[in-house]
Amino acid sequence: SLHNKEFAPYLTEAELLAAVRRVATELSRDYAGQTPLLIAVLNGSFMFASDLLKELTIDCEISFIRVASYAGTSSTGAVKEILGLQDSVEGRHVVILEDIVDTGHTMKMLLEQIGAQRPASLEVASFLMKPECLQHPLTIKYQGIVIPNKFVVGYGLDYDGLGRNYRDLYQAV
Ligand code: PRP
Ligand code: MN
Ligand code: MG
Repeated sequence: SLHNKEFAPYLTEAELLAAVRRVATELSRDYAGQTPLLIAVLNGSFMFASDLLKELTIDCEISFIRVASYAGTSSTGAVKEILGLQDSVEGRHVVILEDIVDTGHTMKMLLEQIGAQRPASLEVASFLMKPECLQHPLTIKYQGIVIPNKFVVGYGLDYDGLGRNYRDLYQAV
């Protein structure tokens, strides 16, 4: 449980939402007139996706895919696809929405799988980025907040399933 580990307040809801608004402004500008298909990666991205979509000033569609690779605070390296994408991405302007790109294993797999389905364009919006941990040369065009290599919980991100409902972000100490 969360109580096995110590967490300290890290970023406030106001700081998080300011970053969400900045990403929304960038997407609204870059996809004006294009009706992009946003694909949110469950479970972690649900809160970011929800807040982001409310801030967009363009038409868009939203779909969901579910993958998981973490046990506790460590990536297992094996990314499991649990719920596949139902919607066709062929010819669409696709933006993958993630809560965090950490080692990049998850995003590498998603870019390969979705990229193989011939989208018109494919970019990533990740709310958090941990560049120190990245193990693949990925281009993440839209980045909310760059953070150091510490495990974080809250705002959709979990520690063994808990903490996703916190408004603020907490950092393992
Ligand atoms: C977390 C996070 C990202 C991924 C990032 O998901 O939400 O999807 O790990 O890590 P990576 O860059 O090292 O692959 P997780 O596998 O914990 O599933 P969850 O979203 O259901 O919590
Ligand atoms: Mn995830
Ligand atoms: Mg997780």
